[in-house]
Amino acid sequence: MSKTESATLRLDGDARTFTLAVGQSILDAAMDQGLAIDHACGGVCACSTCHVRVRAGLDCLSEASEDELDQLDEARDSGLDSRLACQAKLTSMPKDGEVRIAIPKWNVNAVREGH
Ligand code: FES
Repeated sequence: MSKTESATLRLDGDARTFTLAVGQSILDAAMDQGLAIDHACGGVCACSTCHVRVRAGLDCLSEASEDELDQLDEARDSGLDSRLACQAKLTSMPKDGEVRIAIPKWNVNAVREGH
């Protein structure tokens, strides 16, 4: 019997905790659990509205594809810890069991306005 492992997913500034299963994308986990992350293209790597900064657990996520890196090049407020939430999947368990993300400030406004 195999049990899917899950990490704890946290968003900076949000007191709630979510779970992120191995093999699941950050966006899928967020949508399943009521965490609002913008996703204008529906999760097909054709926009950068799902851009998040990964504050912890970055090395436990799937590697970014060329397409994702191209989108991130266009994203505002991106850095070395930037990922597209729809593309970044958990591939292994973080040492402390936690993946922590932050939504770039300009995007936080977009999320708030949309809900
Ligand atoms: S939702 Fe468009 S790239 Fe992630």
